[in-house]
Amino acid sequence: MVTSPPQPKIEELKPGVKAPTKETLLTPRFYITDFEAVANMDISSQEEELKAMIAEMKADYNRNHFVHSKEFKKSWEHIDETTRNIFIDFLERSCTSEFSGFILFKELSRRLKDRSPILSEIFALMARDEARHAGFLNKSMSDFGISLDLGYLTKNRTYTFFKPEWIIYAVYLSEKIGYWRYITVYRHLEKHPENNYYPLFNMFESWCQDENRHGDIFKALLRSQPKMWDHWTGRWWARFFLLTVFATHTLTVQERSDFYDSIGINATEYDRHVIRKTNETSGRAFPVMLNVEHPEFFPGLYRCSDRNMKMKEIDASNAPKFVKSLRKLPLQIGIFADLVKLYFIPAIDAEATRGTVA
Ligand SMILES: [Fe+2]
Ligand SMILES: [Fe+2]
Repeated sequence: MVTSPPQPKIEELKPGVKAPTKETLLTPRFYITDFEAVANMDISSQEEELKAMIAEMKADYNRNHFVHSKEFKKSWEHIDETTRNIFIDFLERSCTSEFSGFILFKELSRRLKDRSPILSEIFALMARDEARHAGFLNKSMSDFGISLDLGYLTKNRTYTFFKPEWIIYAVYLSEKIGYWRYITVYRHLEKHPENNYYPLFNMFESWCQDENRHGDIFKALLRSQPKMWDHWTGRWWARFFLLTVFATHTLTVQERSDFYDSIGINATEYDRHVIRKTNETSGRAFPVMLNVEHPEFFPGLYRCSDRNMKMKEIDASNAPKFVKSLRKLPLQIGIFADLVKLYFIPAIDAEATRGTVA
């Protein structure tokens, strides 16, 4: 038990403001897209669905949910320093990823205002939620004496260009995997309250409903574009994004297994559960699901994850840069080869198993 507030050993931009973690392939991305192409998208086949989603979003069920009560301010004292640093890392990653959603949705809403009012409104409502989520996580960080400068992040992060179709596949998956991640932690802590060391976890049940709704909006967008599900290119892109999102999940969960240990969750079981559930859910929107029960699927992902951990060890060593690059090369080739193998495991046709298209 910690009795006085120890200073976190964390790199700071200025006092109390955390220097953002170095960007890698595995850190949350910031996106821009072709706004003109989104404005020209024909959404007529899903217009009713989208209008219904606007009404649901306007009801704003979580309006009074994100309250940073007094309970938050006290509770950090019960967390030891190691756990605290692991937890701050979790908060930062989650805050960055929520904030990246806010920036993208806000910009889409602004650019579509006069061109596509339905989309503009729905993106504004999603931006509202993501701003709340990011702000809440940042406030939680400040309970630990550190926060993120979100204005600095906006100006200094690298923005990745994604075509609108890629944004739809990727954001759909990130919302649905976000839902399964939050609800799985929540359900676990419900059964094991002894591991619940911070009140933020109690909020995950309602929080994940926001992500679930966002996912459903992206599902409507995806189904409004027949090319994304009724064409062979859509099937291959869907496989690509499913595999990319699942591989990123496995690698990041294994990298941060100490966070999951801290709340009494077995990282490997959690990873498999979240992937299985997200894959199953994606079958309601995507033309294909991955065959995650194939005997090579998870072993392949875990080989990639082991190589990723070895690369981290190499990065942390004192060897000269070129020696590090040389030692990492076979590991990178190994990851690439395994991902290609996983990509070609025959997928499951979701259109055939779905029955009626929702
Ligand atoms: Fe969110
Ligand atoms: Fe979301």
